[in-house]
Amino acid sequence: MDSRYQEVYARWRAEPEAFWREASGEVAWIKPPRTIFDPASGVYGTWFPDGTCNTCFNALDRHVEAGRGDQVALIYDSPLTGQVRRFTYTEMQEEVAVLGAVLEDLGIGAGDRVVIYMPMVPEAVFAMLACARIGAVHSVVFGGFAAHELAKRIDDATPRAVLTASCGIEPGRIVQYKPLLDAAIDLAAAKPDTVLLLQREQSPADMNASRDHDWVEAVAKARTAGRRAPCVERRASDPLYILYTSGTTGVPKGVVRDNGGHLVALHWTMRNIYGIAPGEVFWAASDIGWAVGHSYITYAPLFYGATALLYEGKPVGTPDPGAFWRVIAEHKVVSLFTAPTALRAIKKEDPSGAHLKHHDISSLRSLFLAGERADPDTVQWAEQMLKVPVIDHWWQTETGWPIAANPIGLGILPVKHGSPTVPMPGYDVLVVDDAHQPVGPDVMGSIIIRLPLPPGNLPTLWGHDDRMRTSYLKDFPGFYSTSDAGFRDEDGYLYIMGRTDDIINVAGHRLSTGGMEEVVASHPAVAECAVVGVKDSLKGEVPCGFVVLKAGVNRPHEEIEREVLGLVREKIGPVAAFKIAIVVPRLPKTRSGKILRRTIKSIVDDGQWSIPATIDDPAILDEIAGLVRPRVSGS
Ligand code: COA
Ligand code: AMP
Repeated sequence: MDSRYQEVYARWRAEPEAFWREASGEVAWIKPPRTIFDPASGVYGTWFPDGTCNTCFNALDRHVEAGRGDQVALIYDSPLTGQVRRFTYTEMQEEVAVLGAVLEDLGIGAGDRVVIYMPMVPEAVFAMLACARIGAVHSVVFGGFAAHELAKRIDDATPRAVLTASCGIEPGRIVQYKPLLDAAIDLAAAKPDTVLLLQREQSPADMNASRDHDWVEAVAKARTAGRRAPCVERRASDPLYILYTSGTTGVPKGVVRDNGGHLVALHWTMRNIYGIAPGEVFWAASDIGWAVGHSYITYAPLFYGATALLYEGKPVGTPDPGAFWRVIAEHKVVSLFTAPTALRAIKKEDPSGAHLKHHDISSLRSLFLAGERADPDTVQWAEQMLKVPVIDHWWQTETGWPIAANPIGLGILPVKHGSPTVPMPGYDVLVVDDAHQPVGPDVMGSIIIRLPLPPGNLPTLWGHDDRMRTSYLKDFPGFYSTSDAGFRDEDGYLYIMGRTDDIINVAGHRLSTGGMEEVVASHPAVAECAVVGVKDSLKGEVPCGFVVLKAGVNRPHEEIEREVLGLVREKIGPVAAFKIAIVVPRLPKTRSGKILRRTIKSIVDDGQWSIPATIDDPAILDEIAGLVRPRVSGS
């Protein structure tokens, strides 16, 4: 089949407002928008400014009213607890309406913020939708972040309530969430009034009598009392959620998602990009703490009347590298969306795909990859094993849906390994040089997107219009700077090669090396430090720290290195995967005193480097290489 991509993209370019007006006709509005885009309001304009809707209505009630109530909306599959549970649209609607009523009874209303710090359990999805139902603004914090990071998010979002569970389960260990939350609330200046706590039998937590409420009891009470929260009317431009993501400093950015634009854009992607039909099972093997989890576990599949899958497990070790294939076979998954790192983990343990033979994965039509660059080896391996199209697509938390993809719903384009293919409608993507001029084919440059960003992209950063402007809009006036670098080939295919800032991607998780440096520098023995992302065959990149000690510190280096690693784990969380810190006598710098992080990275990654013209003392590079060689494999 010929792809309709060129025609659809050209139609969007010619008449963007008509394009999004048509897409907006596919979702349920309370008051349909008359204006599609208002360039005069907001930081760079506002989508559907006079429309009103309810996001939860579109995810649940709409389908029940249309007669899909008995269809399964959510499958929870947890190899970590040995459970599989299914919820129909009618059951989800009931669960979410009751939980919404519990929140209302706790005094939470439209516009109030609610932090959700939970593992991958169905109640976490109910919580997101219950907030949407009553107009509260949720902010989900990934469970792998520790108390200090959670506290920063609480202080920025100033939530009235936190919804949590007693514990998460990682292979071989229970992660006690409640003590982390208690510590975060102690650290935070903004104290939430209420905590709603889901006790898990694997490890119940102590309750704070004056603040904490038992989830199961509160839900049972509201249910018995016949309390059900209705869907409240929200302006399309009202915030649906805040999702914090790493910025270049230790202060995370609160990416805002609105109700209307998000609804329209995500609904559009399900058929046109992912090629899904209502009633089919779509599985994003991510975590609800990430943008992919928000968009493609909770929201888009439900907007579209598909079946979403929530997986509490890992690609390997729960119990074996056949885990993904088992889930696909058992639940007839049509499309899987994961990070390349998950495939590398499976490939490492089962390179010949022996585990595939035990599972019938014939329901699978496509595999989508995102979160980091999909290396051609991994893509090729997956194609050979799964015998379905393997689609790399490019995303950011800020965009909430793919900037570039191979839209199989519009007809697949030829796959080129190493490229996430072409820009999607809504995105006018340019590759430019340092003078802001577009570059020719195959020339590397900064990647920018012409404003306005399409519906579903961030309208601003929570409470910080100024930071939105300085972080994304200032460097290239009239454009959004992606902070990604790459090139375009002569067929117009994009290649995303890496970040231009100090963000690194560790196992598909976005982290700030600047944030880690702040923590390392807080150690009393540390004079200065540099953290760089270095190549890792499994996780893509891992952080590696170089530490200079204060004069007069003569404790054993190994001891300080261990303490520094422990400090990052304690302050940022295990997700940072910060496992290498090396004490060095000094750091390479330019004559003006800037640390040469890129040169340090080349030393570790390639074992070779070119000497920057501006370096103060080139001898330091040999010194560092000598220390790195025995410590970091591959260098
Ligand atoms: N709560 C608490 N701790 C968590 C956690 C959570 N939700 N998720 C991860 N962690 C911990 C892990 O237990 C690990 O701790 P450890 O240092 O004690 O071993 C640490 O954080 C690092 O976790 P992770 O990066 O996930 O590494 P891993 O070695 O446990 O697993 C992979 C490696 C490749 C299997 C795993 O990273 C993976 O599945 N990645 C896919 C990522 C993804 O889907 N990203 C979303 C973008 S689409
Ligand atoms: P996150 O906000 O966590 O989704 O991370 C966004 C960053 O991940 C992007 O800016 C890219 O650097 C990287 N990324 C995501 N998807 C891809 C991809 N398909 N190819 C290359 N890099 C990607």
